[in-house]
Amino acid sequence: MTNSSEDLRLWDVAADNYVSTVPGSTDSFYRRIHGFLWSKLGPVADRDVLDLGCGHGWLAEQMRQAGARVTGIDGSEALLTTARSRYPEIDFRQHDLALGLPDPDRRYDGVVAHMVLMDIPVLDRLIADVAVALRAGGAFVFSVLHPAFFSHDIVDGGSSGERYRKITGYLEQETRWIESFGGHRHYHRPLSWYVEKLVAHGLVITGVHEPPSLPHNDIPVAEWTDYQKWFSTIPTMLAISCTPANRATSPQPG
Ligand SMILES: C[S@@+](CC[C@H](N)C(=O)[O-])C[C@H]1O[C@@H](n2cnc3c(N)ncnc32)[C@H](O)[C@@H]1O
Repeated sequence: MTNSSEDLRLWDVAADNYVSTVPGSTDSFYRRIHGFLWSKLGPVADRDVLDLGCGHGWLAEQMRQAGARVTGIDGSEALLTTARSRYPEIDFRQHDLALGLPDPDRRYDGVVAHMVLMDIPVLDRLIADVAVALRAGGAFVFSVLHPAFFSHDIVDGGSSGERYRKITGYLEQETRWIESFGGHRHYHRPLSWYVEKLVAHGLVITGVHEPPSLPHNDIPVAEWTDYQKWFSTIPTMLAISCTPANRATSPQPG
């Protein structure tokens, strides 16, 4: 039993706003992660890849264009309606990921979850299923809003010149409200929670990425304001890659 049906209703309500606000490959969050994501995912041509929380499907489409056999899963029927109409070649499925994977017997070479896990109230089953679903040498790459730095007030002291992010309650697992796209719930977990879950399910971490926070518009660094330069030094996004420990690729005898 999870409380994600209300979350999914909110994502359905937010869908039009999300689709018009998040352009996909030029989005500032994707610009921060794409190098890490693709290098950790490795070549995807002729591989089975799963896009968890695929939204309106733009990242699934990028992986399809790179030659992958892609399945996209999302809980929002409204976002999936856009995904299916834009990318009819891709297999998109509606499913509540708080319940784990819809078909835990399927196997994948890569699993991606871009800006999704912090929106799901319960992750235990999902992480367990992903760990089992990955083939030897496969990669699970996910990004989340940075647990330490995203949801905290910006203190901008004006003439005193003081600027910082005010961090409180970091170690608490708590539900926060995010205004973006019309509003949705955000399930804060400290970084150690993610690491401990991955390790507990036999996943080895292969990379951690804390990219600089970029302005929404792709403006040259030379034109950034002082505020944008400062903000870039505080990562509001975190990405982690991992692979199954007990099925590492090694030459088989004989
Ligand atoms: C911030 S959006 C990211 C979407 C997409 N990955 C992207 O980068 O555009 C979060 C996504 O998670 C999905 N989501 C949230 N809770 C979910 C759940 N319990 N089960 C399945 N999908 C969920 C939402 O519908 C939404 O598409």
